[in-house]
Amino acid sequence: MRLSSLLTPAVLSLLIPASIALSVGIQSRATTCNGSPDLCNRSFGNVTFVGAHDSYAVGINNLAANQDYDVTQQLKDGIRLLQLQAHGLNGVIQLCHTSCGLYNGGPLVDYLGKVKTWMDGNPNEVVTLLIVNSDGVDPSYFDTDFKSAGLDTMSYKPPAASMPAAAWPTLGTLIDAGTPLVTFLTTTADYTRFPYLIDEFSNVWETPFDVTTTFDCSVNRTSGDPTTQMFLINHFLDQVILGFPAPFVEQANATNSASGQNSLGEQVQQCVTDHGRVPNFLLVDFYEYGGGSVFQIAASANGVEYSPSTPIATPIPQGSGTAPTSSGTVSTTSISTGFVMSVIIGALSVV
Ligand SMILES: *[C@@H]1O[C@H](CO)[C@@H](O)[C@H](O)[C@H]1NC(C)=O
Ligand SMILES: *[C@@H]1O[C@H](CO)[C@@H](O)[C@H](O)[C@H]1NC(C)=O
Ligand SMILES: *[C@@H]1O[C@H](CO)[C@@H](O)[C@H](O)[C@H]1NC(C)=O
Ligand SMILES: *[C@@H]1O[C@H](CO)[C@@H](O)[C@H](O)[C@H]1NC(C)=O
Repeated sequence: MRLSSLLTPAVLSLLIPASIALSVGIQSRATTCNGSPDLCNRSFGNVTFVGAHDSYAVGINNLAANQDYDVTQQLKDGIRLLQLQAHGLNGVIQLCHTSCGLYNGGPLVDYLGKVKTWMDGNPNEVVTLLIVNSDGVDPSYFDTDFKSAGLDTMSYKPPAASMPAAAWPTLGTLIDAGTPLVTFLTTTADYTRFPYLIDEFSNVWETPFDVTTTFDCSVNRTSGDPTTQMFLINHFLDQVILGFPAPFVEQANATNSASGQNSLGEQVQQCVTDHGRVPNFLLVDFYEYGGGSVFQIAASANGVEYSPSTPIATPIPQGSGTAPTSSGTVSTTSISTGFVMSVIIGALSVV
């Protein structure tokens, strides 16, 4: 009997889906993932990403600002984890720093729109959002904003509420599925209602934050098993002003450096010594200080080349008088002592 006569339509219909599933399982269609072919076949839980702490808090000469450049430039330069602080204000989620009276970076939905625009233009990039839900806002509000921005359908829905690092899909799988956005919420995540708004601390542990002295790699916050979870290092240095922590921008070059005392490179090495693996997320302030050192460190950790096609942004000197005009941006020369105090006191609760 000839082979072709065996392949009746009924037999074919049984065979074809299996063969398609097999080929998808073997190799992803995406050939470059987050800038490298080598990363397509790597689990999301085995990749190191650079993150912007308080990504939306942009400004200079402002104690409540942690970045010089906005989210679009951050993404262009290589930031792949965007950390945000969300606050509920009159039924709308705003990106405020500690309180909306202190610094209001605008509505979450506007920020998400910028992320969507960039991701649409860069479909081979996996991006992570880490939303600090400061006021314990119900996830339905986040869902509404994600839907408005068109990001809900681009969001990865894990098969379980909590997963060990090794269980995460590859970057290629996330990209092929059209779900290259991974979102973590620090509080109120509800897997049964909104599976794509993923609980942070049962999936990711963190080192101490608001560090004013020496970075270490101790487990500070988790609600899972840190031996198998992904982990994030809070590598942004604060200085104590009037008894309270504020970003130590004058030290940012050294803090972000690949080597030297209290550098990012040193903390990553400490993590390898303590835990036998590099961190998944490196959260920094003023990421462009160090001239790309933070991205170089992540590339080395991933075993890939760091070769940006265009130079990244350069630091905007403090006191340069070119402060952006976004709401919440104020000059230190014109703010009252009371305002300084409230900024600083607020920084205490900033994560
Ligand atoms: C992808 O990774 C898996 C497991 O690490 C490995 O078995 C497989 O050979 C890799 N495939 C390619 C195309 O590199
Ligand atoms: C976590 O870090 C914070 C601030 O860095 C510190 O106050 C707290 O004691 C730490 N908690 C643990 C359990 O290490
Ligand atoms: C950081 O390094 C850059 C480039 O070397 C330099 O221009 C800048 O002045 C440094 N900034 C600080 C605050 O040390
Ligand atoms: C990825 O796996 C390699 C090999 O086990 C390990 O050396 C590296 O630290 C891992 N990276 C992350 C971010 O887990």
